[in-house]
Order: sequence, then C-alpha cells, then structure tokens
Amino acid sequence: MTHKIALIPGDGIGIPVTEAAIAVAKAAGAALDCTTLPWSCDTYLQTGRMMPEDGIETLRGFDAIFLGAVGWPAKVPDSVSLHGLLLPIRKAFVQYANIRPHRLLPGVEGPLKTRDFDILCIRENTEGEYSGAGGRVHVGTPDEVAVETSVFTRVGVERILRFGFEQAMKRRKKLASVTKSNAQKYSMVFWDEITDRLAAEYPEVEVTHYHIDAMCARMVMAPESLDVVVASNLFGDILTDLGAAIQGGLGFAASANISPSGGPSMFEPVHGSAPDIAHLGIANPMAAIWSAAMMLDHLGETAAARRIMAAMEATTARGIGTVPGRDRTDDITKAVLAALEG
Ligand code: IPM
Ligand code: MN
Repeated sequence: MTHKIALIPGDGIGIPVTEAAIAVAKAAGAALDCTTLPWSCDTYLQTGRMMPEDGIETLRGFDAIFLGAVGWPAKVPDSVSLHGLLLPIRKAFVQYANIRPHRLLPGVEGPLKTRDFDILCIRENTEGEYSGAGGRVHVGTPDEVAVETSVFTRVGVERILRFGFEQAMKRRKKLASVTKSNAQKYSMVFWDEITDRLAAEYPEVEVTHYHIDAMCARMVMAPESLDVVVASNLFGDILTDLGAAIQGGLGFAASANISPSGGPSMFEPVHGSAPDIAHLGIANPMAAIWSAAMMLDHLGETAAARRIMAAMEATTARGIGTVPGRDRTDDITKAVLAALEG
C-alpha cells in the first residue's frame, strides 16, 4: 500500500534532515508517495504568508505530514512563522497528542550517570497555554497591557489524559500527571480532578501527580522511576527539551503529533531550524529518522519502522552520529542506509 506524504522541509536544517529521513524510510521498504510543499520563512517573505490560504485544505488530502523545522528569526519573527504554519496545523487536524520518546540510543552518552530510563512524554498539543487567546491594548504606551489566557477544556484535558492512560497500558503501566495545581488553582486543579476520575477506569495503572518543578528535578535525578508522563502544552514543551537533553541532545529527540480522529498526523524532530549551523552540513538526522519511524509505525508499516530503529541503533552503537556536530549529515545517513541493507 502506498502512503501519500506531505513533506514540509521548512527552514534551515529542516531541509537536509527531512531528505535524510525520507531516504531512510523508503529504503526500509515503505511505499511513500511524497509531495514536497516548500512552505517556509522564504515563502512568507515572497507572499506574506507561511503557507497558502488553502494550505490546510491541501494537507487534508494526505495520509501523513512530515515536517523538518520551521523558523528563521532573522527573516521572520518566530511568533509569526510558528503561528502561520506549525501551530495552525496541529490545531486544524486536532493533533492533540504530541508523543515524544526519551531514551538513550546505544553508544550515545547522555549527561546523566544512569542510562536506565525510557520515558514517553505525552504533551497536550492544541490548547492550554498555547491556545493563542489574548491580546494587547494601549500598545507602545506606558499603560500597555498584554493578556494571554490559558484555555483548558474538559474535552481537551480528558482526551489527552485518556491517551496517556492507553499508552501506559501498553507499557509499564505507570502514569505521571504533571500540573502546577498548588499555584494555579483553576485549570490545574481541574486537570488533577480529571486525572483522578480517569484513574478509576484504569485500576492497573499506577498514577502519580507531580508539580512541573518537581518533575524537572525528577527527570534529572530519578528518570528511571518514570514511564508515561502527561503534561499540558507549555509544560510538555519544556519537559521534552529536558527529555531531549538527558537523551544526549536535541539531535535525538523525535516526535509525533497524532490526530486520533483520523486527520493527517504530523511527524517532526523536536529540534528547530538551527540557523547557526544550517549551512555546515552537520545537522544530526537521527531525530528526523526516528520521527520517520514513528510515522511508519502510525501508518501501519510496523516492520519497516522496526527496521529503521534497528538500523539507527546499529549505527549509533558504532559511534556514528553520537556526538553533536562531529559527523556530517550525509555520512550519518549513509551509515543508517548501510545498516538497513546489512
Ligand atoms: C516544539 C517547539 C514548538 C512548540 C515551537 C517552535 C512553537 O518548541 O515543537 O517543541 O513549542 O510547540
Ligand atoms: Mn519545544
């Protein structure tokens, strides 16, 4: 079966890592019919928009979206580029579950003493602190006011927590629910209540509540104690950069923006476009390749996804692509392709 994939390489290192990931996915045996959509900050400079007006409609016709990275702050402010492409796609297709695995690939040295952790972060991806609700008044005057409102809906909180419980059931049956309900007494208490109500439906799952500050410490001090971690949009965003750090860096952090209701899901490395190294040819494609494996898994190509993970692990075990900035993107990609064949 051929899968129709929308490729949005985006900006900076998004372009080479997308090319690498798709080459590996095809070599792993997946039949992908890819259409490249060159939506980026350059598109914005030419047209005043990050994607065409009918961009969302265009994407609707695909089985999945693969995105490299978006943003080039010297050309377009990040607040404009991200609200013009990445964030509207997550919302339009109700990709409410952002899944980010954090574990060390063989041969990768993390900053922690332990190698013993395997965390699956589930980040709410459509509302919360990134709802985009707010405004500014008296702009540019001493009386200026900026308001940005977090939006937590019962539907939104319940579905992300339920998603987390379902993942926990497939793993080690532990769920950490992350809030800050000691300080934020409306939205976060609401989240805690919904966690407790769902916990009654999943008696096999061991549920622990953590505050975000304590969770940051735990991910460094005792990451082996964690399995599935569910958090709001902002907290999940922060925790998954921490997760990336403990797994050796952003070069290894993969993600899936899942649309459980059947819209196209989107797969992307957690890292950004990295303008500072964009022309050096040293971007690590591992995060993008891992994201491609997640895409194939989602599309039902589980054997190809497993082959990619095995090839990546064989490559890092040989010390290739394990140290940020040392090996060239092309060399790492060739090594993964060779591992797939061998
Ligand atoms: C991520 C990124 C984005 C996010 C930014 C670029 C808006 O940091 O995917 O983690 O916060 O969602
Ligand atoms: Mn982030």
